[in-house]
Amino acid sequence: MSPSDDNTIKTLNEILEKYHRDSNELLQILLEAQTITEKNYISEEMIDRIAEELKISKARVNSVITFYDALSDKPRGKYIINLCQSTTCSLWDNKRVVLDWIIKELGIHPGETTEDQLFTLNTVSCFGACDISPNVRINHSVFGHLTEEKMKAILSGIRNSEKSNELLKIQPDRSHKKTVSIITSNFGKYDGYNIEEYIHLRGFESFRKALDMGYEAAANEITQAGIKGRGGAEYPAGIKLLQSREAIGERKFVVCNADEGEPGTFKDRELLKNDPYKVIEGMLIASYIADAREGIIYLREEYSWLRSKIQHAIDCCYEKGYLGKGIGNSAHDFELRIFSGGGSYVCGEGFALCESLEGKPGKPRIKPPFVKQAGYLQYPTLIMNVETLSAVASFLKDGSQVFTSIGTPDSPGSKVISISGKVARPGVYEIPFGLTLQEIIKDIAGGMMDGEGVGFIQVGGASGGIIPNSLLDTVYDYKTFKKIGTSVGSGALVVGSHKNNILDYLRVVQEFFAHESCGKCTPCREGNVQLHHLLERFSKGIATEVDIERYRAIVNALEFTSLCGSGKTEAVPLKTALLYFKDIFMEKMI
Ligand SMILES: Cc1cc2nc3c(=O)[nH]c(=O)nc-3n(C[C@H](O)[C@H](O)[C@H](O)COP(=O)(O)O)c2cc1C
Ligand code: SF4
Ligand code: FES
Repeated sequence: MSPSDDNTIKTLNEILEKYHRDSNELLQILLEAQTITEKNYISEEMIDRIAEELKISKARVNSVITFYDALSDKPRGKYIINLCQSTTCSLWDNKRVVLDWIIKELGIHPGETTEDQLFTLNTVSCFGACDISPNVRINHSVFGHLTEEKMKAILSGIRNSEKSNELLKIQPDRSHKKTVSIITSNFGKYDGYNIEEYIHLRGFESFRKALDMGYEAAANEITQAGIKGRGGAEYPAGIKLLQSREAIGERKFVVCNADEGEPGTFKDRELLKNDPYKVIEGMLIASYIADAREGIIYLREEYSWLRSKIQHAIDCCYEKGYLGKGIGNSAHDFELRIFSGGGSYVCGEGFALCESLEGKPGKPRIKPPFVKQAGYLQYPTLIMNVETLSAVASFLKDGSQVFTSIGTPDSPGSKVISISGKVARPGVYEIPFGLTLQEIIKDIAGGMMDGEGVGFIQVGGASGGIIPNSLLDTVYDYKTFKKIGTSVGSGALVVGSHKNNILDYLRVVQEFFAHESCGKCTPCREGNVQLHHLLERFSKGIATEVDIERYRAIVNALEFTSLCGSGKTEAVPLKTALLYFKDIFMEKMI
């Protein structure tokens, strides 16, 4: 913007007005402000004006712009090509192969913009389209299963007609005799838009049941069902809800964590895309049990293409009286809105998410107090994952036996998993706990592509353990996974073939954490720099016994002294890789 540009000033004023010049809305204001001009950035003049209007310092505005990957204070092209360099995509060599196609076609390298100012190329972390890798995201459109021809056609299509609207399609029916359909029961039965159809599919019956039972009985039923949080921490959902009920505050919030930034994870994407009403119903139940009156869906910026669909579902719920005052003729009120993230993995962590909601850089806070006591705006805040909310809304109407009749005694029920990598049918599947990894990979995901063998599997996301093919008989449940040094986590399974190099993969994992580190604590900030050097030495074949010891020491420091789960869990892939693939590390030593 130049201040003399009347239209830009007018639009910026409208944005500021829309957000009531509230500094807590700074991230939302900046995300919208940078789309005012075709240069996709926030100019110095805009920064001045926003700071002045929100009565905050320019430094505060700059701290947010520099923290979030989606924001920029440098002019960019009208179309931003985002090339994923995270775990699954690294198995497809996205960063080399797709990058080469783009360089050939546009002549630009990462960080550069074409002369005509149309395209800027960026390398980014996972944007939740791992099942259709090789892929790119161009502005809010995601393109998958790329070939050189397809990439060329997409770029020339944009150049010629400026159209780029291939959104992720509804996944083809991926049911199998070994899958189940509880949390995903509505997939393929309606399009996720029509609230009447959702109601016809017994929508909102679980919420009504909760009202009839009373909050305590409803929470106990959730405990009976054995549902643990599906965002990674695996905390029992029923207990968490009751703890939230006990938290006292003038206001109380329920936040649906739809940040889904864990590489290899895209199940929440499918839950929100196929059945957004069920997620809202889960929030209604959670808000009733916790006695919270306000709710926010924190949607990752990379899923902006889902925003209008979710907003439509919220609007329909208000129209039908499922949101607002006195819901379902009860005394329960619940107001719900969407908030967009800015492209940062660590914002999935509870306190970082609260900071982000307050329009600040998403840096975790020191505990205690805990989020449930003093989270968003220092009010009690209940944060729940998309799948946990969908699970609660799925079974409550019929009782906990829906879950306890399948699965294993330790892990009742089902889990929605995201499987990607070198399997024939990557995608999202709902499985009963208790299948083996072999059954999941071979029977459900169609086995390996092109006759390749399984080389390794990373379970639970980038922060999950990396295990060898000798553990394919491992049963998928919480207890068994713990025994082998990992966890169910976000439910991701990234399968590498015997042709993929484990050390290269490990470097990708480590680079992801280094890129996403918020820098607040030393072990994670500095440890990642050191780990990077060490892994380089292994890759080059110049490591020594001392390097192994250093590697262990840094991984231990990460695990035991990091401030938040990001640094702590980064230790898991690093430790398991050394445990299960030690011979490969040894081969690389002099
Ligand atoms: C670095 C980091 C990133 C996280 N990202 C997510 C996320 O994207 N989605 C999510 O639901 N939980 C995420 N979590 C876990 C959340 O902090 C929190 O435990 C979860 O949202 C609670 O919901 P649940 O009990 O339903 O799992 C993350 C945790 C950490 C430490
Ligand atoms: S562990 Fe990493 S991401 Fe978490 S607070 Fe420390 S520096 Fe930030
Ligand atoms: S989109 Fe690349 S790893 Fe997820």
